[in-house]
Parts: sequence; structure tokens; C-alpha cells
Amino acid sequence: MSEAERRIISWCRSGYEGFLAREWAEAGLEVREQGPGWVAGVVAGGAEATPPVERLAFAWATIPEATALAGETVAVQATALEAWTGRRFQGVKVEGPWPLVLAAAESPKGLGRRRGAVQELYQRRLKQRMARVARLARGDAIPPPGWSEGVAGFFRSFDAIEVGPRIFGGGQRRMADDPWAPSRSYLKVEEAFHLLGLEPTVGERVVDLGAAPGGWTYAALKRGALVEAVDNGPLKGGAAGHPGVRHCKEDAFRYRPSGDAVPDWLFCDMVEDPRRIIDLLATWVEAGWCRHLVANLKFGRDDPLALIGLLHQCNHPLTSRLRDCKLRHLWHDREELTLVGTTGKRGQSPILALVNAN
Ligand SMILES: C[S@@+](CC[C@H](N)C(=O)[O-])C[C@H]1O[C@@H](n2cnc3c(N)ncnc32)[C@H](O)[C@@H]1O
Repeated sequence: MSEAERRIISWCRSGYEGFLAREWAEAGLEVREQGPGWVAGVVAGGAEATPPVERLAFAWATIPEATALAGETVAVQATALEAWTGRRFQGVKVEGPWPLVLAAAESPKGLGRRRGAVQELYQRRLKQRMARVARLARGDAIPPPGWSEGVAGFFRSFDAIEVGPRIFGGGQRRMADDPWAPSRSYLKVEEAFHLLGLEPTVGERVVDLGAAPGGWTYAALKRGALVEAVDNGPLKGGAAGHPGVRHCKEDAFRYRPSGDAVPDWLFCDMVEDPRRIIDLLATWVEAGWCRHLVANLKFGRDDPLALIGLLHQCNHPLTSRLRDCKLRHLWHDREELTLVGTTGKRGQSPILALVNAN
């Protein structure tokens, strides 16, 4: 690595690093190594600017100014981390809590336990060496969404830790299940709320396209929202027969919100061609029929990089109209991507939209 280059590492779900590596290439990052669930390389050409890591859909997190610490045992790794932390905080006045994010690749097996053992010894030693700084550490294996500054490390194997002073968290997180949720999809919408930093509230109106068996519908109902659940299939569990739900057995591509039911949220989770879904979502957002959007795009055998490229086009009729727009491969996603965003407008009914247009 030359002086002008800066080391960088991102991680993702194991098995998806090939997609992440392609996203890196499109963001101008040079992949030097990759393993199960991670990609490492450099920001080429001595560029000072931070690369656009916020756009990486597959990355769970990225450390943009990484240093590789070698070491094979728990004790050596804890010592190396402690020494690096000492240098990192040298001359820095630590005023408040700082994030300590230490994560590990999903494989090889046992790496998570190794991370835990190193972290325990490292924090114990840090307390002896820099008691005040150590007390202010807020440890987690998952970074908060967005940028944070503190100490971030990633164990990519038993003998290599990548460490840096900054981390960008994609916002993915494993969510807790609910016994009343009728499907595993429930976990995806819960994770999407965490990503967006917003969730439906009491009395808000939600349209759920492709609602059955009702996991997303249930997530809205349990928060006191009113849901139009659009699907020919039956609703089950906590969504079945709930007083806050109206089950519309219709084709979601033909469904339009009725005059008195102005939706705040549009949910969409259908097993359909993702390009058709994107066009449908664009129709809703262009017309102003919702304020917030959560949609799952099932790429299946389609190329997800083509979908990501399409949605990142400037002036795209859907994404260019969304604020806080994020496209991510969620912790609970498999062959799918989740899009969240906010239109910033109050939702309006199709009738009002026609009146306003004339
Ligand atoms: C993955 S499931 C949705 C799971 C749901 N979000 C949950 O949390 O339980 C996909 C659903 O989309 C529905 N679907 C597919 N195409 C549809 C269409 N054109 N109109 C309405 N529903 C559709 C299917 O009937 C199926 O129930």
C-alpha cells in the first residue's frame, strides 16, 4: 500500500461479499482482499474525501481509515488494541460517551467468541491505563446508523483485526420476534423502522400492498395505526380480525387509496418483478399518496447491482422524490433489498391530487 492510499474495510452478510465488492468498484474503491462477509481494500489516489460509503446497500458497516493489527492470541490482540487506542486518544479531550464497536465476521466459527474474549481483556486493561476514557466507552457489536467516532474494530479472521477511529453503520440490526406476528417478514419491517428512524403512530393510516399473512400489517396495528391490508390471501395471527384492519382482496397494482382514507404510510412486500414494483411505488410517491415508504424488492435471480444502479440514478422518479432515502440489504433480508424514505409531503387522496392538478 502506498503512502497516498488509505485502507478501508466493509462487512456484510456472509455469502453476499461478491455483491458488496461490485458496489465498492462502482464507488471507486479498490478491492484488495475479500473473505466470507467482508471486503477490504484501499481508497485509491490519495483522495482526501471520504468515499460514498453511505450508498453501499450490502454493507452493514464500513471503517474508512483502517489499520490492520496482527496477532494470534487473545492477549496479543488485546495488547495491540490497547496500544492503538492509547495513540488514538493521545492529545484528545474526551468530553462524553464514545462508541466502542467491535464486530466479527460470521465465519470462521468461533470468531464471535474470540472477539468477546479480546474485548473483555482489552476493556479491563483500558480501565487500568485510561480509567476515565474507558468509563465513557459504550460497547456494542453493531454500530449506530450513520457516522460515529470512537474506536471501531472488525475481526476478519483469528489473526487479523482492522481498527479505525470512524465507522459508518448501515442501520441493519437483528430484531426481536413477537409471538403474535404471523410471519418472519414482520422482522423486516421492524428493522426497516429502525433504519428509517420512524414508525407508524396511533391513528396513522397505512396501506400494506401484499399484506398476507399480515406481519407488516400487525407491526402497524400494534402501534395503534389503521391498516388497509391489500392481498387476496388470508390474514393470520395478530392481524386477523383486528378492529384496526380492513382487508382489501384486490390486485395491488390496481388498488388506489379511497377518498377519505389518506395514507401516511405505504408498505409494499410482494413477490413480483422488482422493476414493476419500483414503477408502482413511483406512481404513489409522484402522486403524493403517502408520506413514508417501506418497500421490499425481491431481486431473486435478477442482478441486484442493476436495481441499485437504477434507483441511484439522479432524477429517478421514485428516489429523487424521497428524503432520507436508504436502500439496504437488511439483517433479515435474503435475496431482497429494502427501500425506506419519506416524501416530506402530507399524503393526499387521488381525488384531491386530481383537483390540485387542475
Ligand atoms: C412475502 S408475502 C408478504 C408477507 C407480508 N408482508 C407479511 O409480513 O406477512 C407476499 C404477498 O404478496 C401478495 N401478492 C403478490 N402479488 C400481489 C398482487 N398483485 N396484489 C396483491 N397481493 C399480491 C401475495 O399474495 C403474498 O401474500
